[in-house]
Amino acid sequence: MSEEQKKVVLTCAQPSGNLHLGNYFGAIRNWCSYLDSHECFFGIANMHAITVPYVPANLRKSVYDLVAIFISCGLDPEKCHIFLQSHVQGHSDLAWILACLCPLGQLERMTQYKQKSAKQGESVGAGLLYYPALMAADILIYNADVVPVGEDQRQHVELTRDLAIKFNNTYSDTFRVPDLFIPQTGARIKSLQDPERKMSKSDANQSGCVYLLDEPTVIRKKIGSAVTDSGCEIVAREDKPGISNLLTILSACTGRTIAELEAEFAGQNYGAFKAAVADEVVKKLEPIQKTYKEISGDKAYLDKVLARSAEAAQRRANRLMSKVYRKVGFNELQK
Ligand code: TYM
Repeated sequence: MSEEQKKVVLTCAQPSGNLHLGNYFGAIRNWCSYLDSHECFFGIANMHAITVPYVPANLRKSVYDLVAIFISCGLDPEKCHIFLQSHVQGHSDLAWILACLCPLGQLERMTQYKQKSAKQGESVGAGLLYYPALMAADILIYNADVVPVGEDQRQHVELTRDLAIKFNNTYSDTFRVPDLFIPQTGARIKSLQDPERKMSKSDANQSGCVYLLDEPTVIRKKIGSAVTDSGCEIVAREDKPGISNLLTILSACTGRTIAELEAEFAGQNYGAFKAAVADEVVKKLEPIQKTYKEISGDKAYLDKVLARSAEAAQRRANRLMSKVYRKVGFNELQK
């Protein structure tokens, strides 16, 4: 099948430091399954990363780290476009047009906005509120067919679908309304220290978050000190969020179902169970860490990947943006 005929997958991650198990099992691992069947655009959302306080030099470096992590996790750059959001013109232009269509109340109701703005108080920037419009633009500018994300991004992709429909109804059919895809296993990996909350890089308690580049000793320590629940049964149940989370992680690592794992660990104690989870996580991350060590220092190679992808992404974005400008009534420059 030619590139033109393939369906398009688009998704992004923010370059805010190291990625964790939630990003891997909820997102990247699943993205790999599209490499042969779809035309894939995997973006590094550096324009989203400036919606919260940040250090410019760290942001620049984090982009390279993330390209290297993407490739180490199996996103073969010969089979997909790993691009940097700010390299492609049109994302923020389209975001503006979509924001003009988007009711303010809908943005104010976004859970992520409510959580992140609560942390910043009075100093919260307007970019944080506007964030979902930019995310919608990231998706719609490529006329994506499918957007695979973790559960925490569901609301944003649903808003994207609403905006695509609204634009199509207002200006005539322009955007494909993308499908949301959330993987069954690993869609919501929780913090090891507070299993009611998602595992997150912005978590105050970093021992609740296992990073893909953590050393094996650190991984064993974090999993060994994971919060568990009262009782001693190893089962996934609502009143046992800590054990349920560890079972989810083990299931994501091994490909075995939760029911199989419950049967295997019946009668065993929490200590033995945690050690088994840690072993599997270390085993899973070992090849990723090995490749990362090999390629992360090769800036020229990473730059080449970004440059090639930016070109392909820009070509596709241009096609859509000229249509959008025409439909919304922007005059063409006459030379
Ligand atoms: P980000 O960078 O927070 O996360 C990247 C991907 O990882 C998933 N994820 C999780 N999945 C399961 N459990 C967790 N604990 C967990 N934490 C994160 C996220 O759902 C996501 O799929 N706004 C987005 C980036 C973005 C984007 C886009 C995504 C910008 N534009 C367009 C899709 C399409 C974000 O901050 O993801």
